[in-house]
Amino acid sequence: MAVEQTLSIIKPDGIQKNLIGEIYGRFEKAGLEVVAARMLHLSKDQAEGFYAVHSERPFFNDLVSYMTSGPVMISVLSGDEAVIKHRDLMGATNPADADSGTIRADFAMSIEENICHGSDATETAAVEINYFFGDDGVCPRTR
Ligand code: CMP
Repeated sequence: MAVEQTLSIIKPDGIQKNLIGEIYGRFEKAGLEVVAARMLHLSKDQAEGFYAVHSERPFFNDLVSYMTSGPVMISVLSGDEAVIKHRDLMGATNPADADSGTIRADFAMSIEENICHGSDATETAAVEINYFFGDDGVCPRTR
């Protein structure tokens, strides 16, 4: 299995619900390691830049307002098959479609306020990790 890195964001509703420890615990139990982390209150420019791929979508403005409504916890996770493992832990984007026991099924209110974000592929992960951490913000794995 390939060791990968992926970007994880606990969104403003996850912070508001005090779920950082609960969510990190799920990552760690699944064998993922947090190798970088920072809490940020995103500016409009940062949120628009991060979600630029969605800029033509009808939900873009609401997404940016939501993502700038409070702090977020941004992390890099490392581990075997980290991208898909993280996505499996999160569940489907729309919590109504998420498998039971996933983070979104357990905690998310709607497709918009869906608690967390995760990279969808290793290539996207590299871009997203660079967006928030640059080249020097990620620690080596300890195991
Ligand atoms: P995320 O994984 O962060 O990637 C893009 C985000 O846009 C997604 O989670 C949702 O929060 C949001 N999103 C995707 N589709 C819709 C939609 N149809 N309506 C509103 N928000 C959406």
